[in-house]
Amino acid sequence: MVRENQLSSADLIWPLFITSGNSIEEPINSLPGVSRWSVDNIILRAKEAIALGIPCIALFPNTPADKRSADGVESTNPENLMCTAIRAIKSECGDDIGILTDVALDPYTSHGQDGLLNNDGYVMNDETIATLVDQALNQAQAGADIIAPSDMMDGRIGTIRKALEMNGYLNVQIMAYAAKYASAYYGPFRDAVGSTDLLKGDKTTYQMDYANSDEAMREVAMDINEGADSVMVKPGMPYLDIVHRVHEEFCIPVYAYQVSGEYAMIEAAVKAGSADREAIVLESLMGFKRAGASGILTYHAHYIATLLQG
Ligand code: PBG
Repeated sequence: MVRENQLSSADLIWPLFITSGNSIEEPINSLPGVSRWSVDNIILRAKEAIALGIPCIALFPNTPADKRSADGVESTNPENLMCTAIRAIKSECGDDIGILTDVALDPYTSHGQDGLLNNDGYVMNDETIATLVDQALNQAQAGADIIAPSDMMDGRIGTIRKALEMNGYLNVQIMAYAAKYASAYYGPFRDAVGSTDLLKGDKTTYQMDYANSDEAMREVAMDINEGADSVMVKPGMPYLDIVHRVHEEFCIPVYAYQVSGEYAMIEAAVKAGSADREAIVLESLMGFKRAGASGILTYHAHYIATLLQG
């Protein structure tokens, strides 16, 4: 009766990894319990999400090695894995499920960075934005409901917003990865999209310094001013203070991404007998709600929605 927060399947966004082929499930070793699925299987996952009351899935492609290049141009191919999956899900499920698509070049580049490199290997902001716009339009054309730029280039939200409007995608939303930190918690994700072995160095020239909190507020303010419909804080559990500040300081939906390394830590603790899965997952997700998150991207979405449904 006096409980202040509730968790329901409507709070969840379920990240899913796509791979080529048919009838494929590829388990990801560093993310026990999470697999890459071929497009036909992704449709089944989308139908499960609908049955469980999960309103939205987030898609990430594991682009075949021969389609990765320095300029990541595969991201603009209408027949790429991402767009093929979007069209397949939309034709089977219509608007019963929301599709959120990641905009960044890292699953498509031969160097694993989210942007284009100059001769010194430095990620170039403005040149990258031009490609991100093409990528976003490509996803919108395929039927994406929410474009989620995760690249952390400055100015990309405004440019993508303008391009969406000019091309008639008036109802496509933007969820900006507004406060995304350069984090050691993304390790298993890079395995999942196949960029671990390609990536040299780190992403500290464009992702945020984890020592900073005021900077996150400036990043969020910029993305809102440029036309974001909602914002995201990432990673999740070590950054609940940021989620809370965004919730308090901006009247906009804020989502938290409980990222791959957080999921892997929980699963490792469960495997070692150090934690009870149900209890620890429920507590960690309620923590996001308490901090003020409107919703949570979590690899435990299917598990916890099943549990909540009884
Ligand atoms: C790509 C992207 C990353 C994640 C989501 N989109 C990785 C990165 O920035 O290196 C991480 C998600 C996770 O760890 O679960 N730009």
